[in-house]
Amino acid sequence: MKTLIINSLDEMKTLGLKIGKKLKGGETLCLSGDLGAGKTHLTKFIGQGMGIEDYITSPSFAILNIYYGKINLNHFDSYRLEGDIDFDDLGFDDYLFSNDVNIVEWPEKMENILPKDRLTIKIEKTSDTGRKLIFTTNNEDKYKHILEIL
Ligand SMILES: Nc1ncnc2c1ncn2[C@@H]1O[C@H](COP(=O)(O)OP(=O)(O)O)[C@@H](O)[C@H]1O
Ligand SMILES: [Mg+2]
Repeated sequence: MKTLIINSLDEMKTLGLKIGKKLKGGETLCLSGDLGAGKTHLTKFIGQGMGIEDYITSPSFAILNIYYGKINLNHFDSYRLEGDIDFDDLGFDDYLFSNDVNIVEWPEKMENILPKDRLTIKIEKTSDTGRKLIFTTNNEDKYKHILEIL
């Protein structure tokens, strides 16, 4: 587990760009935290670091937005999902188990279909622009290249 304190949106951007540049494909980053914690902003900055040129926003209705780049970014946001959804029918496996990068907002809601080896970043709001980031993973080796830059 690693903890990081962020004081501003600018520092979040610096972190996101750094993480994005390190991604190789095949990683699953789960972003948990309350509404307004900064999950979508961090996703946007990571995407920019990956060299994605499209504007990354909250998927309004879609659960999955795909951004194409040298490495593709699959951005999941299951916030709007309610009740028991049969994910097996949605065909997400082809995206989740690929050489793309997956970033998942509200991972709790789709935990049962996510790859086992993932890096979870919990974002806690400490003030208006302050954030505490808690990094945990069940596979330190797979995510070494990210953990070592923190
Ligand atoms: N350090 C920070 N990191 C991320 N967002 C911040 C930070 N400081 C302020 N914000 C603001 O907090 C809000 C986060 O919104 P968003 O990224 O949509 O959150 P979420 O996706 O977790 O609901 C934005 O309005 C953003 O400008
Ligand atoms: Mg969001």
